[in-house]
Amino acid sequence: MSASPVTRSAHAAVDPEPNNPELRRLTALCGLDRRFVRGEGVWLTDAAGRRFLDAYAQYGAVVLGHNAPAVREAVEAALRDRVPAMVQPHEAVHAEALGRALAAEVPGGPRRCVFGTSGAEAVEAAIKLVRARSGRPVVLSAAGSFHGRTLGALAATGQAHHREGFGPMPPGFETVPYGDADALAYRLEREGERIAAFFVEPVQGESGVHVPPADYLARVRTLCDRHGVALVVDEIQTGLGRTGPLFAVGGAGVAPDVLLLAKGLGGGLFPLSACLVADAWWSPRFALGHSSTFANNNVACAAGLAMLRALAAPHAGAPSLLAHAMAVGAHLGDGLRRLQRRFPDLVRDVRGRGLLWALELEAPADQDGLLLGYLGHQGLYAYAVAAALAETASVLTLPTLGTRHVLRVAPPLVIDRAQANAVVDGLGDLLARLQERMGETLLRGMGWTATEADPDAVHGACVALPPAAPRTEVVPAPRKGYVWTPGYWDYRAGRHIWVQGTYVRERHGYHYAEPRWHERDGRWVLERGHWSRGGGDRDHDGVPNRYDRDRDNDGVPNRYDSNPNNPRRN
Ligand SMILES: Cc1ncc(COP(=O)(O)O)c(C=O)c1O
Repeated sequence: MSASPVTRSAHAAVDPEPNNPELRRLTALCGLDRRFVRGEGVWLTDAAGRRFLDAYAQYGAVVLGHNAPAVREAVEAALRDRVPAMVQPHEAVHAEALGRALAAEVPGGPRRCVFGTSGAEAVEAAIKLVRARSGRPVVLSAAGSFHGRTLGALAATGQAHHREGFGPMPPGFETVPYGDADALAYRLEREGERIAAFFVEPVQGESGVHVPPADYLARVRTLCDRHGVALVVDEIQTGLGRTGPLFAVGGAGVAPDVLLLAKGLGGGLFPLSACLVADAWWSPRFALGHSSTFANNNVACAAGLAMLRALAAPHAGAPSLLAHAMAVGAHLGDGLRRLQRRFPDLVRDVRGRGLLWALELEAPADQDGLLLGYLGHQGLYAYAVAAALAETASVLTLPTLGTRHVLRVAPPLVIDRAQANAVVDGLGDLLARLQERMGETLLRGMGWTATEADPDAVHGACVALPPAAPRTEVVPAPRKGYVWTPGYWDYRAGRHIWVQGTYVRERHGYHYAEPRWHERDGRWVLERGHWSRGGGDRDHDGVPNRYDRDRDNDGVPNRYDSNPNNPRRN
């Protein structure tokens, strides 16, 4: 029996998943539903024993690599010593120590520290704090920003599509363009006294890794000072060495009023976040009116302390892990930029800093055929590329959240040069394949395949695609089509497989395999088509030529096939 998604979705119909079935279906659709059973350093191993290089590190949160020895030892020691994890409101020893250690590192002097569990929770704390302290209602943030998915953080997020369907949003959230200090100056001149704080990411991560002008944060600092507005720097993604220095804002020589951390803070093992507040912005009203049951977890904070120490400790010949990451990050960035020069048709831009990189992919258009048009239209193209990279090179990447065609490369900081080379080489090999045979490569990567030995799974089976945005434009017909009977050996399934039911764009034209594409129950459904096994591109070279007869794509050799003026040939 094949392990194709056709079979998986059939199971899902009789045995519904309790854990977010829609998301499961989407990840299955994109071939991003592997089951990992072991993690060590940059490596993740799946249930079948296949090892993958993790180059996205849980959205950058696995800073030291999976199950980092330093963190494990600290946690094991805490558990061995029976350190109580949860003792609020009494003093949590490791939480106190971590708060002090973090406060000492943040540029700009003494700090208060409020712990939470998620990044969004730290953002919520900061929103409450700046309003309580200033008495001003408005929180300003940057267009394109991402601050989390709870309601306040979502309202502060500068990407409207994340809010769709969740309104009404709390009032008092506004945006200015990112990277544009003049726009901020203009707004503060006019409305400064209404504005409590400006929330900003030193590098916008989820919007596709956007690096602002070099003097941006310094100018923002001056403007906030001038208008009594708090500068809240969201380093949930950029902090803890991700972009080079411990804090990106420190690298820019700027002291924030409030600094937010999460992701890697729990050492890759625990959910842990921190809101670090300068004395001048501390508020007793906030202090006594904000708390959370799971804050100040002693064991999580022991992991955080070990993580901080590991970042500062010598690593692989470098004076610190931070220095190591900076050097490998520059090397990785060089490699990615080389790929952009080599594949300008596929890679539009490469952006990043430290070990936070993005490849902006050239988006497929509707004219590229049904499959690629669909992937492009639904913002799934980068997911398909990530799936194909996992399949072809055993390298894991993920798109950034707010963007349609941006692939994020953000490996653990312990990645070495050889492993960074493996990421670049794997991507290079994949891009070469995409250039030659985009459709087949993506279909295979996503697992949209079925085995020849399991024809029932092929004919008539449906794959429910995720809900589509309303499609207003007409999908143009492919420019060129002919029947394709592709086949190749799938080493995972251990047999010959057939790619099913879709237009597939290749370098020399389009393959067509009779999809049925319709809307059902509010979803777009791609019904896997029939095979025209006997016709089409019989020599399987992707080029219509004298060996191929079935030029009108009907699976039957007939007079249309030999007539070059045949209107049915498109
Ligand atoms: C800059 C930034 N802020 C906030 C968040 C939200 O963090 P969490 O997902 O832990 O709530 C994220 C998550 O990606 C982020 O990148």
